[in-house]
Amino acid sequence: MTMTDVMRTPMRLLRGLGPWRRSPRRFQPFSYTAPDRYPWLFTFVRDRLGDGPDRRLLSFGCSVGQEVASLRRLFPQARLKGIDIDPRNIAEARALRLPGVGFAVGDSTAGEDDGAYDAIFCLAVLCNGRLTVNGAERCDPVLHFATFQAMVADFARCLKPGGLLCLVTTNFRFRDTEVAAGFNVALTITPDQLAPDVIFGPDNRLMPGERYTDVVFVKR
Ligand SMILES: C[S@@+](CC[C@H](N)C(=O)[O-])C[C@H]1O[C@@H](n2cnc3c(N)ncnc32)[C@H](O)[C@@H]1O
Repeated sequence: MTMTDVMRTPMRLLRGLGPWRRSPRRFQPFSYTAPDRYPWLFTFVRDRLGDGPDRRLLSFGCSVGQEVASLRRLFPQARLKGIDIDPRNIAEARALRLPGVGFAVGDSTAGEDDGAYDAIFCLAVLCNGRLTVNGAERCDPVLHFATFQAMVADFARCLKPGGLLCLVTTNFRFRDTEVAAGFNVALTITPDQLAPDVIFGPDNRLMPGERYTDVVFVKR
């Protein structure tokens, strides 16, 4: 999200009050989203997985539900779930009354079953837009690589073998995590498709000029 996007976003989507704000797992504080925001990604996953009543997809950090609504259109038969840390986002998402969709408030996937999902979408979540705007040299204490690593390790646990992990707009590289050894890269995009985000290393230090274009990973 650019600063122009932030300025145009209604205040209700930039809100941030409530005890969940203090979660150590809270990443992106902004709830900006849009219908069919990643058509190239959704189409890639649809072509790769196909639809069907046995397909299970998770939108982690779903904001007010537009991402899940987009997935519902492409996967009319699949079972869909959206999780977001902000209870007011989830209340708005539930008000969409999307058929066959479950929504839950949460700050991790700890409550999900092992091997439950064919795909997990975590898009513009494991980042913090303020780090980009502020030109930070370090991401801590705002974000910590160790927290990123723990989050994606739990995503891996929740995926079926052959399942897809979709990570777009993060402040860290999936390839630097221990769990990445159990995945192959399934989709790499061009730098112009990336949001203007900055990348930090496992030491929480800025990696100047780094662009990370791997965005979909398949669990072996
Ligand atoms: C910029 S929005 C992205 C919405 C959607 N995924 C998209 O790309 O359009 C980021 C969302 O991540 C949520 N979020 C941040 N940290 C989270 C966490 N630990 N668990 C669940 N949701 C989180 C925020 O509440 C916010 O709704």
